[in-house]
Amino acid sequence: MNNLQTAIGDVTLANPILTASGTYGSGREYENFVDLKKLGGIVTKSVTLKPTRGNPPPRVVETPSGMLNAIGLQNEGLEYFLKELLPPLQKKAARVIVNIAGKTENDYVALAEGLSDSGIDALEVNISCPNVKEGGMAFGVCENASSALVKKLRKATRLPLWVKLSPNVTDIRVVAQAVEQAGADALVVANTFLGIAIDIEKRRPILGNVTGGLSGPAVHPLALRLVWQVAGAVKIPLIGVGGVAGIREVIAFLLAGASAVEVGTMNFVEPDLTGRLVDELSDWLKSHKTSVSDLIGALEIAPPRG
Ligand SMILES: Cc1cc2nc3c(=O)[nH]c(=O)nc-3n(C[C@H](O)[C@H](O)[C@H](O)COP(=O)(O)O)c2cc1C
Repeated sequence: MNNLQTAIGDVTLANPILTASGTYGSGREYENFVDLKKLGGIVTKSVTLKPTRGNPPPRVVETPSGMLNAIGLQNEGLEYFLKELLPPLQKKAARVIVNIAGKTENDYVALAEGLSDSGIDALEVNISCPNVKEGGMAFGVCENASSALVKKLRKATRLPLWVKLSPNVTDIRVVAQAVEQAGADALVVANTFLGIAIDIEKRRPILGNVTGGLSGPAVHPLALRLVWQVAGAVKIPLIGVGGVAGIREVIAFLLAGASAVEVGTMNFVEPDLTGRLVDELSDWLKSHKTSVSDLIGALEIAPPRG
């Protein structure tokens, strides 16, 4: 392995920089800013079985060092994705990870089956969307529902299953362990943090959905703590996501135990950020005479086991 390479189970990545679902479309929105092949891989916006309209506007609010969003999984559905969005992405990206979301177990299974022969590298299973009434986070906050779902998906597909966890739980390690035992190949830690913004003059919530998910630099220390805790609780690889704005956050996630990271909200501020991170990480590794694999979990204070 060269010093940037990393592996998420059987999926090797040329470098640990991935995009975060919902902030990068299906790649084409960014291809004038970044050579998509340069990144470890592209994680798509959540795909649902049928077209989904999403939540009423407003859907986003800027907050100090971050944003709240309540998009509600708007997308054109699996059929359109397979025909129109996936083929061009597969030509342009080193690795393609498709994020799936459903309302029921059957939705998720149908999505996994529908994507099984598409040549993608992994499924990212979104059991943690805070912005839809059914499904999504309803699975992710309950270890039994998460485990039952992952067991079904494990039977339905041979694709690697990366399960994206919700931070909106009392102890994320309980869900992480249940999902690991059910057959997940990796865990993505984590989705957005449930929040609310209020228009004080109107005395009304700003978001059409009332609540939304907080992301961006504000959440980085929270996500880092979750990665560190989960690293002590499971053996499968972790992918850190939350507030990456520079290589400092990338390296911190690796030290805390992540094998790769996803970059989300900050793409909106700096659309060529991901490409820059690959270059800067490479320079940093050279100047520190180290490698991504040496950094993973190398924090001097190990997380409590359990
Ligand atoms: C506008 C927006 C849309 C998002 N859509 C999705 C989605 O469809 N599926 C999903 O799993 N996560 C979604 N996320 C969550 C991100 O993938 C990521 O977990 C979160 O934003 C934290 O990373 P960040 O702080 O780097 O943005 C979305 C986030 C934002 C800001």
